[in-house]
Amino acid sequence: MKLLSATLDRVKPSPTIAVTTRAQELRAQGRDVIGLGAGEPDFDTPDHIKAAGIAAIQSGKTKYTAVDGIPELKQAICTKFKRDNDLDYTPAQVSVGSGGKQVIYNAFMATLNPGDEVIIPAPYWVSYPDMVKLGGGEPVFVAGALDRGYKITADQLEAAITPRTKWFLFNSPSNPTGAGYSWDELKALTDVLLRHPHVWVLTDDMYEHLAFDDYRFCTPAQVEPQLYDRTLTMNGVSKAYAMTGWRIGYAAGPQPLIAAMRKVQSQSTSNPCTISQWAAVEALNGTHDFIAPNNDMFIRRRNLVVDALNACPGIVCPMPEGAFYVYPSIAGCIGKTTAAGTLIDSDEAFATALLDEAEVAVVFGAAFGLSPHFRISYATSDAALQTACDRIRTFCDGLT
Ligand SMILES: Cc1ncc(COP(=O)(O)O)c(C=O)c1O
Repeated sequence: MKLLSATLDRVKPSPTIAVTTRAQELRAQGRDVIGLGAGEPDFDTPDHIKAAGIAAIQSGKTKYTAVDGIPELKQAICTKFKRDNDLDYTPAQVSVGSGGKQVIYNAFMATLNPGDEVIIPAPYWVSYPDMVKLGGGEPVFVAGALDRGYKITADQLEAAITPRTKWFLFNSPSNPTGAGYSWDELKALTDVLLRHPHVWVLTDDMYEHLAFDDYRFCTPAQVEPQLYDRTLTMNGVSKAYAMTGWRIGYAAGPQPLIAAMRKVQSQSTSNPCTISQWAAVEALNGTHDFIAPNNDMFIRRRNLVVDALNACPGIVCPMPEGAFYVYPSIAGCIGKTTAAGTLIDSDEAFATALLDEAEVAVVFGAAFGLSPHFRISYATSDAALQTACDRIRTFCDGLT
């Protein structure tokens, strides 16, 4: 009898983790690698949030809680949705999990049947297709393009919908491109969805607060209230509050869906970490004063990276509206050879050669479903970014 589950054959390990591991190996060999692969802010969790976690420990809030969240956190989430997104939810419509990742996973495990299709705009966050496959569903990709800021069009969405479509999975601002849909761009998509009442919407709003310049974040149920009854609005504290390790994500949607997700979680991890839940209450209810200065820092770094990459021969890098990623095209590098003699015949070859020959770790575009590109996470120091960009420039200058 085969030991491993057949479902696992359909799934690949996370390539972003693979790049980070390879960079760590090279560093262990004494190589001076700059890692631009990790998708987390480089600043610390704000002190008032940490203090709430410490207070929870000291006051004995260290036991099991209700499976999908303490009432105080669910209430804070409802308040947040009203305040930030003008969405009305009750605590019974809210589910809290161990990170946004678990919340999405729960939703797919709770709803997908064999053959169900999930429409995923590409490039996409690496975990989406594999989570769909783990749930028994089929990912259906719709490709964005650089000249449209990586956003998909209403016609593309319309063409991808079939009678088997269960979910449309939406992510703005996006990992990996940083692309943010404007109200009108999103309205064009929600107009399509209105014509297909069997399609549910899962919106991953994880980068909501990382919105730059005059870009204004918006979410599907806000743009089209008629979709409210078939939308799961998902968010979390990892990115905006620098709380990746605390593992708290949440979603709100129709009660029967939330109950089904609770059932999945009750038989897997039970409640998310009690201490982290109390810290998340403070994150959502407490001051948000640190977000604007953090965004100023991210904007400065984004501009530095975009300008430096556009000065590299063979690279074209659009200006993203949010998140902390850029997703340049390397179409102009394909078919060339590095100074060390490596043929660049794919974005994976580009990223591998960049790591081995220029000691900069990035993630290749094929991992996100749109080539030939690579992703840089610029959530690291200005000095490291400047050195990395100089190395990329020397690497590209050396291509013949
Ligand atoms: C688009 C997107 N969604 C969800 C997540 C999951 O975040 P977490 O599980 O840390 O809440 C991430 C993390 O990288 C992400 O980039």
